[in-house]
Amino acid sequence: MIANPVKSFNTVGACNPLKHYMLPAIPRLPDITDMIDGEFYFVLHAPRQSGKTTCLQALTKKINSEGRYYAINCSLEFLRNTNDPSTAMKYVVDLLNSEIEASDMAEISRLAYAFDGKPSMNSTVSMVRYLLRSLCQSLDRELVVFFDEADCIPEDPLVLFLAQIRTGYLARSVSESTKFPRSMALVGMRDISDYLYMVRPEAKSTGLASPFNVKKKSLTLSNFSLEEINSLYSQHTAETGQFFEPTAVERAWYWTDGQPWLVNAIADDVVVRQFKKDYSKVITRKDIDQAAGFLILQKETHFDSLLERLKEPRVRSVIYISGNLLATERSIPEHNINK
Ligand SMILES: Nc1ncnc2c1ncn2[C@@H]1O[C@H](COP(=O)(O)OP(=O)(O)OP(=O)(O)O)[C@@H](O)[C@H]1O
Ligand SMILES: [Mg+2]
Repeated sequence: MIANPVKSFNTVGACNPLKHYMLPAIPRLPDITDMIDGEFYFVLHAPRQSGKTTCLQALTKKINSEGRYYAINCSLEFLRNTNDPSTAMKYVVDLLNSEIEASDMAEISRLAYAFDGKPSMNSTVSMVRYLLRSLCQSLDRELVVFFDEADCIPEDPLVLFLAQIRTGYLARSVSESTKFPRSMALVGMRDISDYLYMVRPEAKSTGLASPFNVKKKSLTLSNFSLEEINSLYSQHTAETGQFFEPTAVERAWYWTDGQPWLVNAIADDVVVRQFKKDYSKVITRKDIDQAAGFLILQKETHFDSLLERLKEPRVRSVIYISGNLLATERSIPEHNINK
């Protein structure tokens, strides 16, 4: 028995490969390298707690270490309640600058302070475009930008933000002075273009594309397969010697449908809460059932989020709570969703 394994099942935030058992993040998005190499601007949308930020962090690190392009991962979560478009654009610039400052890229860091007083930087209509354009001009490699939590931006600022991205994109190959990021992803729970149609339905009927009509394609993340759950749980077995019976792994898949956070949370509940890190105990199907029941009674916020997702038409594979019953379904009838 090993007293203190280095790693654990992560139930809070993005995974850190040094601290958490995890499945390789980048292969979960097999098309993303093609999107970046192909110079596309695209949307990555997936449910809450499905591993989006974990993938972006891994990818940003990989791109920067490979030396072909630079990459920035900028979360826009801070803009959640910023309805004023001008204030929101200033926040986007601040958030981008913080990422630039924190990066290892000396050229980018120096540039981060070079914008004050420039006329285009004083206009909230152009400041995001100007920052990205100037940054690209100064770099010796092309830039890839991920905007995580992009759907946190309220409607009016979102339109202004996307318009600047679109203008920059359309002019990017005109001349040296109009350079713009090679590839960009807007990441969140919603497909941004769907979101814009939702808030401005007339855009669809008049044939106007969304401001982000430079989008080429949407990517999404799948849940873990049974084999992947087995591979994740085996990492714990390799580190501690604690064994999951095959029927326990199958049961975890049954309850979670492979939803990444739930897969971790069920295992963590057995290992830490039920068995108090006594790694000599073999984990059975019954222990996994108990963990599932406990998580339901806890009513973790993630369940609320999953329930929210049920109202969205694209959701195919979900977990829902009806009274005290947890069930997996392939599709949930509308009358159950609205209960
Ligand atoms: N590669 C992975 N291997 C194993 N577990 C993972 C992996 N990626 C994510 N998870 C699980 O999913 C949880 C959420 O990860 P992450 O924060 O990256 O998701 P997210 O989609 O960005 O969430 P949010 O919607 O809250 O922004 C982690 O705490 C972990 O339990
Ligand atoms: Mg995230």
